Amino acid sequence: MNSTIRTTLCAALVAATATVAHAQQPFDGLKDAYEGFFKMGVAVNQRNIADSLQSALLVQNYNSITAENDMKPEPTEPSEGNFRWDAADRIANFCRKNGLRMRGHCLVWHNQIGRWMFEGENGQATKEELLQRMRRHIHAIVSRYRDVVYCWDVVNEAITDDPRADNPYRPSTLYQIAGEEFIEKAFVYAHEADPDALLFYNDYNETDPVKCERICQMVERMKARGIPIHGIGMQGHYNIHYPDSALLEAAINNYRRVVDHIHVTELDIRANREKGGQLQFSRTVEADVDSLDALLTAQYTRVFDVFRRHADVIDCVTFWNLSDRDSWLGADNYATPFDTQYQPKPAYYGIRDWR
Ligand code: G3I
Repeated sequence: MNSTIRTTLCAALVAATATVAHAQQPFDGLKDAYEGFFKMGVAVNQRNIADSLQSALLVQNYNSITAENDMKPEPTEPSEGNFRWDAADRIANFCRKNGLRMRGHCLVWHNQIGRWMFEGENGQATKEELLQRMRRHIHAIVSRYRDVVYCWDVVNEAITDDPRADNPYRPSTLYQIAGEEFIEKAFVYAHEADPDALLFYNDYNETDPVKCERICQMVERMKARGIPIHGIGMQGHYNIHYPDSALLEAAINNYRRVVDHIHVTELDIRANREKGGQLQFSRTVEADVDSLDALLTAQYTRVFDVFRRHADVIDCVTFWNLSDRDSWLGADNYATPFDTQYQPKPAYYGIRDWR
């Protein structure tokens, strides 16, 4: 047998053995590997729940589902009083059928919210008009899904990204009209609609020390005023270099001072030095795929080591998007545990087979 054939056969044998080895791991999927630590979740779109392979991956690996877009303010109430539930219902019904619970995302956000919320007779809506519209929206969606949604991202990204800003709040239209009251009232309304739901404040760049401190100070103010807030959502839009374990752990130690529940809500790890949930991002990749697998696996392994150390306060870790094909960052950013063909990447096994 010539050397080329022998080499090829050896490589095939190694690959087959590796596959069998992975398959023989004692865990079926990610949720099994983290039983006793925290739920494993994923943000889904309509294709994920309709496709047989993708929906099988959802059921095999996750026990918490987030609607990536379909439960947001604008898709569910595009104009005043005109509710559209069909897309959100399909995801909720998929979860009900498969015995899965949901993270509700999201009730109030400066993005993907109907502009009608801010319009009034004389141009801009009054604070009273905005709060009344928010209250009706929140009661409508929270009561509709309270059987399947166990927690809500009540307010998303209300803290500024500008470390030099005197005012800690994002200068959104929501804030311009109602000040920080829109944040507090959103939590009050959500608690009215479902007193059993855990209510989260959710943000990105949450490991940045200045932003982290501002989030903690806001939550402490809210709790001092008796506002029903239960947790902080760390979105987790990271990259292969950031954050390092120390920075991530410092943020978690800060958040656990002020809340009893932390969720990692939108975890993905992109292949460059950008981070966060802003909609402007590049698709430049700084490494070739071979080294990228090693870099991605190393960073996912690092962050999950930290998450497991804080499993007493971290209840759920949710990936943002099922695969690179679904990723809001684009496939080039190589950000998720599954590739564009829905095959597990080495990073998947690094996350699952940690023991
Ligand atoms: O639904 C319309 C469709 O009718 C239209 O044909 C199409 C083309 O314009 O756009 C569709 O809307 C898009 C929507 O996703 C649904 O696919 C919006 O343009 C697009 O901007 C929107 O992007 C979403 C983004 O939030 C919006 O800000 C991403 O998919 C979603 O992953 C992303 O998720 C956010 C979290 O909710 C909050 N944290 C940050 C994270 C990333 O930005």
